[in-house]
Amino acid sequence: MIVCSCNVLSDTQVKACMAPGGAGPRTPAQVYRCLGCSPRCGRCATTIRKIMNASFAEASADAVEGCTTACAATCLHQAKVA
Ligand code: FES
Repeated sequence: MIVCSCNVLSDTQVKACMAPGGAGPRTPAQVYRCLGCSPRCGRCATTIRKIMNASFAEASADAVEGCTTACAATCLHQAKVA
């Protein structure tokens, strides 16, 4: 499902850039950066935050470090990709 129409980002893409264990992006702005874009209208920020919060809740059960997918070159957390 597309969650950001400006950048054509799906919920799957947002979930994929979240690192188990909470080592990934901590803010919606960092999610945009990890996916190689930036916020435009900002309407999706609340939805992205909800996806992030769900991911954090799931991650608390997993104590694994590192992103689950390769990030864009601008991602601050790219070094964590194995
Ligand atoms: S819908 Fe995501 S920035 Fe506009």
